[in-house]
Amino acid sequence: MSRGKTTKLLLATTNAKKLKELQDILADLPVQCLSLRDFPDAKGVKETGRTFEENAKIKSMGYSAQTGVLTLGEDSGICCDALDGAPGVFSARFSGEFQSDDANNAKLLELMNGVPDKERTAYYESSIALAEPGKLIGVVKGQVRGLIARNLRGEGGFGYDPLFFYPPYQKTFGEVPIEMKHRVSHRGQALEKFRELLRNYLERA
Ligand code: IMP
Repeated sequence: MSRGKTTKLLLATTNAKKLKELQDILADLPVQCLSLRDFPDAKGVKETGRTFEENAKIKSMGYSAQTGVLTLGEDSGICCDALDGAPGVFSARFSGEFQSDDANNAKLLELMNGVPDKERTAYYESSIALAEPGKLIGVVKGQVRGLIARNLRGEGGFGYDPLFFYPPYQKTFGEVPIEMKHRVSHRGQALEKFRELLRNYLERA
């Protein structure tokens, strides 16, 4: 990592709360983190993948090609066993293209209505890809398992966090301080592996 903060890394997400999580967790990296706000002309890439990994690759390759910058692409979501893995890659647009976290949570609660406690298992997954223009460097992923609560609990986190009950904490991700979420979350785990991927890349570069 000899190049210090001279290497630019684009954190390619349009989700402001996710961007904040990525910036917080990666703050100590030896790179200068940029966001899509630094590239106002970049066009959104279509998330056409069937898996989080495919979408993470599409985002990192698509935005690095457009911006010419080393790019982190992340795709994540929640998969519920009782719903055959839904909402999965459709997590952000579960209740419609321009809907809110509240609408997505309401839809999930409705679909899970009547599902007994032991069948309310679910997991979050995060895939993170690193690409430079025209070249995929690698992909890593993290997962965390929990249960879908019967009502919203807590104001923290974002998205489905008030419904994601994490048994070791006996709380939802909406109820715990953000550092406690990062310590065990899908994104926290994927980012730990990402550090290694980036370190190897910077050493070779
Ligand atoms: P993406 O930006 O297309 O990857 O959409 C990810 C979606 O998955 C978000 O909009 C949330 O609905 C959900 N999601 C992913 N990670 C989290 C998390 O850490 N907490 C809550 N919801 C999440």
